[in-house]
Amino acid sequence: MTERLARRIGKLLSDSSSEEISVECCDLLRDDLSGMTIDDETIVVIGMPVYVGKIPLPAIEAIEQISGNGAMTVAAVSYGGRSYGNALFELKTIAEDLGFKLVGAGAFLISYMAIRGSSNSMNPSLDLDSMGDFSRAVSDKIKRLSGTEIEEFRMKPAPVEVNGRMPVHKISRLSPRAAEIAQKVFERISLVRRSSEWFL
Ligand SMILES: Cc1cc2nc3c(=O)[nH]c(=O)nc-3n(C[C@H](O)[C@H](O)[C@H](O)COP(=O)(O)O)c2cc1C
Repeated sequence: MTERLARRIGKLLSDSSSEEISVECCDLLRDDLSGMTIDDETIVVIGMPVYVGKIPLPAIEAIEQISGNGAMTVAAVSYGGRSYGNALFELKTIAEDLGFKLVGAGAFLISYMAIRGSSNSMNPSLDLDSMGDFSRAVSDKIKRLSGTEIEEFRMKPAPVEVNGRMPVHKISRLSPRAAEIAQKVFERISLVRRSSEWFL
């Protein structure tokens, strides 16, 4: 579902541009990222799933192979309607440390509940309305930044405010039993969010 989320945001952003933009997708865990060039002409959409309120360690290790080179970047996490915990903050912080210039961040709900009357009711569905609103807002922001005459604002947009803290434990280094316990504790202590949220 995260792949669909990232692809969709990428397509919405390219559709909203008046210029011809080529869209390339890559899988952080499967593709060879060594030949990838990212520069200040690139707009990057990074999608990651939320596992136990965090982003998975293999995804972090993969993205750490890439340098952001100042490219305008959108961070998006998909989550299953319990809580996205610190995952969005974590992704934003890691991306910024790698030199990506964040212009928007969003946590998008994946609904596994049956959609009444739909023949696809057993399929998970993406929150398309929020994704559409978010992509339009990001696109407007990118146009404003690109058109701005003051170099400082173009190079260093106001920080995207996402609340959270960096997790202490990396969940994929825990045993399955410990992960299960961590998930239960996490669910008990976290504030449930049942809608998508995004920040510019
Ligand atoms: C091991 C595991 C842990 C998960 N933890 C959370 C969680 O903490 N909060 C939440 O809302 N959803 C959680 N989910 C649901 C996923 O975030 C959601 O299904 C997401 O869309 C998965 O992306 P993917 O289909 O690309 O793997 C979890 C799913 C799995 C498999």
